[in-house]
Amino acid sequence: MTRLHARIREDQETPGLLQKLGQVIRERREQAGLSRAALALRAGLSESTLKNLEAGRHQPTRTTLMQLCSIHELKLNMSDLLPLSAAESEAGPPLNCWLAPGFDPIAMAQDLTTRLSGRGGHIEQTFLYLDTKSAACWCAIVNHVEHLHGLRESLPLRDVASKIHECVGSAGLDLIGLGCGDGREEVRLAQFLLQQAEPHDLRLYLLDISQPLLGFAYKHAADTLADRRGVAVFAIQGDFHRLPCYTQLLYTPQRAHRRRIVCMFGGTFGNLENEIRFLRNSLVGFAPGDLLLLHVSLVHAPADRPHEIMQRDPRLSGRIPPDLAQREREWLIGPIERYARPAGAPLCEQVIHCALDTTSCTLPGSYAVETIITVKSADGEVRRFSMEYIKRYDPHELSNALRQLGWEPIAAWTAGTPYLLGLFRWQG
Ligand SMILES: C[S@@+](CC[C@H](N)C(=O)[O-])C[C@H]1O[C@@H](n2cnc3c(N)ncnc32)[C@H](O)[C@@H]1O
Repeated sequence: MTRLHARIREDQETPGLLQKLGQVIRERREQAGLSRAALALRAGLSESTLKNLEAGRHQPTRTTLMQLCSIHELKLNMSDLLPLSAAESEAGPPLNCWLAPGFDPIAMAQDLTTRLSGRGGHIEQTFLYLDTKSAACWCAIVNHVEHLHGLRESLPLRDVASKIHECVGSAGLDLIGLGCGDGREEVRLAQFLLQQAEPHDLRLYLLDISQPLLGFAYKHAADTLADRRGVAVFAIQGDFHRLPCYTQLLYTPQRAHRRRIVCMFGGTFGNLENEIRFLRNSLVGFAPGDLLLLHVSLVHAPADRPHEIMQRDPRLSGRIPPDLAQREREWLIGPIERYARPAGAPLCEQVIHCALDTTSCTLPGSYAVETIITVKSADGEVRRFSMEYIKRYDPHELSNALRQLGWEPIAAWTAGTPYLLGLFRWQG
């Protein structure tokens, strides 16, 4: 990945503190029997950075300190080091924003234009949040749903955090939010994890394809967690279908003492075209004991009872509050208005409707609600776009499928809502 920014405040050095810090690091290295070259390699630092650090000539970023803390032979934790690096605390947290290799937002916008200028077809979720207007519409929907139902607030993330702590113990933890959107759930989960036993060694990685949403998420995480010791926040603009290429997030023998928890909140998993293939092909590079947290919608009736589904599922029975339906309409129709016609061409007529699909879901027991927009051009041409395809799951079938793929179910929370939070552990 390309490092975009790394702010190092050499100008705010405090020589006495830096020398003490350097001394602690050198002593621990020598006690661990590591050469400077060996430690630099393991911690992902250059040998000269480490040398300057040990000599008290270099002001480390919080990330550098976390990298040193992740070398278990040093027996260092952040609370040993942060009081010694007060100058950096005053300078605020470092900026850790990454662009994943191959990420090309202009090519994606052109691809979306080509798709929407075509004869119709499915628009994958990767394209639905790309531009700023789409991202803003999505935030308006999420905030409105929160206002109506308080679903985010009611997510039992405190219980989830204590279960994670039970599974992971005191190992350093990488919390990886895939399709994090505005990042609020990941940040709340991080806050609850930090309330577990000290010392903390938590890295929060926020990964999303949408620059506007990721920007919002990173700011929220940095603002919320800035004054917390033992946590570092990273924003990664990338494609979760390419996760195996983002090796910084994955298991390596050098990071054997760390655990990872991958989170997919708010329908990101249920929006995947093929969840089994995603789990099999994209969610790779984890070690036995690593965790997966999925937040999904549940079926409103068994998948083989379409009449009951049509009556009970609010999206299919038309029981969505009109102001929410209007926000969703703006979100889904927006890309068609912006990208599906040449500049200056008249607006097309658009009709939106939701349909039940029980024929193409990959996980047994699940069904999908498909949102279709029919576009009628001035010259009478009719095109049909499938804009959203979101799955509802049977909780037992979901657990069975994950178990068969090597993810052992650990715990599940529904709290009487039509949603499930499921925690799974990689068996290898
Ligand atoms: C259904 S929204 C959920 C957002 C957030 N997790 C929440 O709970 O509100 C899906 C999110 O996944 C992101 N996304 C979609 N496709 C993606 C991809 N291929 N790679 C990375 N992020 C993606 C979107 O930008 C969006 O933020």
